[in-house]
Amino acid sequence: MTDGLFEFQRMNRLPPYVFATVNEFKMSARRAGADIVDLGMGNPDLGTPPHIVDKLVEAARKDTNHRYSASKGITKLRHAIASWYSRRFGVELDPDTETVATLGAKEGLAHLTLATITPGEVVLAPDPTYPIHSYAAIISGGDLRSVPIGPGRDFFADLQVAVRQTWPRPRMLVISFPHNPTGAVVTPDFFVKLVEFCKEHKILIVHDLAYADICFDGYQAPSLLQAPGAKDISVEAFSLSKSYSMAGWRVGFICGNSKMVAALTRIKSYLDYGAFQPIQIAAIIALNGPQDCVEEIRRTYLERRDTLVDGLLKAGWQVEPPLGGMFLWARIPDEFQALGSVEFAKMLISRAQVAVSPGLGFGSGGEGFVRFALVENVQRIKQAARGIKKALSLPAKPALKPRPRPVQAAASGEPKAAVAPAASGSPETAAAARAAKSAR
Ligand SMILES: Cc1ncc(COP(=O)(O)O)c(C=O)c1O
Repeated sequence: MTDGLFEFQRMNRLPPYVFATVNEFKMSARRAGADIVDLGMGNPDLGTPPHIVDKLVEAARKDTNHRYSASKGITKLRHAIASWYSRRFGVELDPDTETVATLGAKEGLAHLTLATITPGEVVLAPDPTYPIHSYAAIISGGDLRSVPIGPGRDFFADLQVAVRQTWPRPRMLVISFPHNPTGAVVTPDFFVKLVEFCKEHKILIVHDLAYADICFDGYQAPSLLQAPGAKDISVEAFSLSKSYSMAGWRVGFICGNSKMVAALTRIKSYLDYGAFQPIQIAAIIALNGPQDCVEEIRRTYLERRDTLVDGLLKAGWQVEPPLGGMFLWARIPDEFQALGSVEFAKMLISRAQVAVSPGLGFGSGGEGFVRFALVENVQRIKQAARGIKKALSLPAKPALKPRPRPVQAAASGEPKAAVAPAASGSPETAAAARAAKSAR
């Protein structure tokens, strides 16, 4: 009688979540007592700088900040965004028409696509990529076309091929440099070329600059909006999650082309009332305040990157240090390629006690790779590298499901399965909570 009643077509377009399999495996290992170094999800572990937290607390005490806020962001925040762009990139923005605050970059990207793409319209996104870059199009009913990205590829050349081969003509390109997961970066002339090309082919550009500040070895990430004429066809997203370690606060923004900003502002006015106002006020302090905290955060990721690269090289795994982002994108060693990225990630959990993200989770183009997120401290990363060295010295075989570690029962001496307590804060609950979150 209820046949078809719960068939949600939009949900059917979202494939099963690849990361869930590995998360599940990690949880079983933890339940069995393993101490897993979790380099899977890109969830920053560093606290938000104290001056930003203090501002949140101060603002939260004021009754006037408890009302609905402005869905496009309060005026002072939009002014802070424009000043930040001017100082950082020499790009001038009109705070009223060319900026909109979002509940994190992810929400902004998803709703921008929903506001601008209608069923059947084609969106280009790299493969592999951060899932919302491609799934925003799918959720909006658009048609997704992938452009390969990764070590040894020329993204611009691949884009030209994709545009030539795509009909109906693509309407939008979603990109992000420094790129998650591959770590690919670009120079300012790439954006100059890209804007010219997309103008010629009438393609809107959405650029996610989430890792603007997480750059290494002298590399500085350019803004797309610095390219001449970029604002005519493009917007850029920024996130406070990484630069200021504010991932849980859900605050970011989108800026650039006024028509695209207006579309997002309009759809958001139907959907939300803006971030909690104290969060917006604290975000102003983050953008306008002292920036040495950003440098400290960047250095922490740099030290972790170097520790991980060093440890993996010592383990015989040839990897390249990325110039930007908070990840290491590593090709699975030849002897283990046949396992595929999901089985290989499971093998690392059971043999090395290390969790990574399987490349397949970022799109079929990510198969053959895994992604390490730099979200544990240097000691834990060293521990991970030691475990990986041991794991890689064993023959390549699929991982077996972790078995509970037997524990001695105090009275009888009978072995029992170790069961993690269901209290909050137990590794099991924490892992379950992490698994429930979407990929970052
Ligand atoms: C490329 C990229 N964009 C956006 C985000 C999420 O940003 P936010 O927390 O502002 O939604 C991430 C998180 O990992 C990311 O890697």
